[in-house]
Amino acid sequence: MNKFEIKGSRQLNGEIKIQGAKNSILPILAATLLCEDECIINNCPHISDVDTAVEILLHLGCDVNFKNNVLRVNTKNLTKYDIPENLMRKMRSSIIFLGALIARTGFAKATLPGGCEIGPRPINLHVDGFKQLGIAVTESGGVIECEIQKINRSFSITLPFPSVGATENLMLASLACDGTTVLHNVAREPEIIDLAEFLNKIGAQIFGAGESDIIISGNKKFHGTYHTVIPDRIVAITYMCAAAVTNGHLILHDISSKYINSSISVFEESGCFIKEYNNKIEIVSPEKLQSVKSIRTMAYPGFPTDAQAPVMSSLLLANGTSVFVETIFKSRYKHVGELLRLGADIKVEGHVAIVEGVSKLSGANVTASDLRGGAALIIAAIAAEGTSIISNIKYVQRGYENITEILNDVGGCAKII
Ligand code: UD1
Repeated sequence: MNKFEIKGSRQLNGEIKIQGAKNSILPILAATLLCEDECIINNCPHISDVDTAVEILLHLGCDVNFKNNVLRVNTKNLTKYDIPENLMRKMRSSIIFLGALIARTGFAKATLPGGCEIGPRPINLHVDGFKQLGIAVTESGGVIECEIQKINRSFSITLPFPSVGATENLMLASLACDGTTVLHNVAREPEIIDLAEFLNKIGAQIFGAGESDIIISGNKKFHGTYHTVIPDRIVAITYMCAAAVTNGHLILHDISSKYINSSISVFEESGCFIKEYNNKIEIVSPEKLQSVKSIRTMAYPGFPTDAQAPVMSSLLLANGTSVFVETIFKSRYKHVGELLRLGADIKVEGHVAIVEGVSKLSGANVTASDLRGGAALIIAAIAAEGTSIISNIKYVQRGYENITEILNDVGGCAKII
């Protein structure tokens, strides 16, 4: 049961409700550690990364109940401040638990995180930021230990790069400080705003989330709350790609264009018609897509690196040449070799991938090597003639809830074998 079988030459038509955002729920689950009573999180996707976060909460001594996309966490009985290696290795976001543990207990201990193999993913920005906050950090044999040294101070920290994870970790760890912390050059992703909104609901005072500077006022009294996670913009883009490459027509529910503007302009350039109304996005794909001149991944609000692989698949059958420039991660073209097996014409030179549109794709046996690369293989397989088998689907299951059922509901033919 670790493969997808996908029958191709399908056209996707119908309606899809977009799940809650993986990249929101994971830091928010870490942030629940600050409250000593219950938090209720709504719109929580059933994906394996959430299962891993739940395992971490359970290991730490928290009570967790997860049913029907509602996750209840009570951290009153937290007894530990370490995260076991097997859980750290399962996903990179485990690292965000460090900031939350520091804020709750003053201590945190973990091994280096794992996650998708999309290039080197160091944590130097997290560690440097912790040190600037007055947290002693020791690293030995792959184990990181953090301990608060001085907390009665105000801080001003500038990130050399607006790392999403470092921004989140520093927002959380700053809540251990009595003074005011100003974080400069931070990530501006919608998921950062969602985390700040959650933290403000539990009693924090965070200003400026979504801008380049965030101000965090010290306050150590936190209480439980109710929160609804924002929609997953990358999942929405993935289904839009599947509609685009199959000449399909989809209406996505619970998603606003404000989260995906940089991608909407790419779909429009390729000839898709996009309409937004009542928190829905409708995409209608033309008979023949046009290539897109240049797609450069950038920190938000630029074009998201997470959308690079799915959008690449959407343009495999387009008229002409599309060019991708990946600027965020070093080896985020692992899907390319597998797309070639399906008949794509792509050349990679360093950070650049050049996609020549082909007239058809053919089903093949391919292997996912990361979450979004796996989604790209699914998109291409739906458009390909014949049947494809995609191995290593555990990567896709890290971030996509019920993907086979959703695809089948809109005209796809996918099953887990
Ligand atoms: C988050 C997202 C991921 C997305 C990425 C970039 C989550 C759970 N994951 O990952 O889906 O692809 O943002 O939008 O939210 N870097 C360093 N040192 C550090 C930290 C990062 O050099 O200490 C580099 C990374 O190697 C990478 C770049 O900065 O090249 C961006 O990484 P970052 O924004 O931190 O991504 P993540 O938080 O890991």
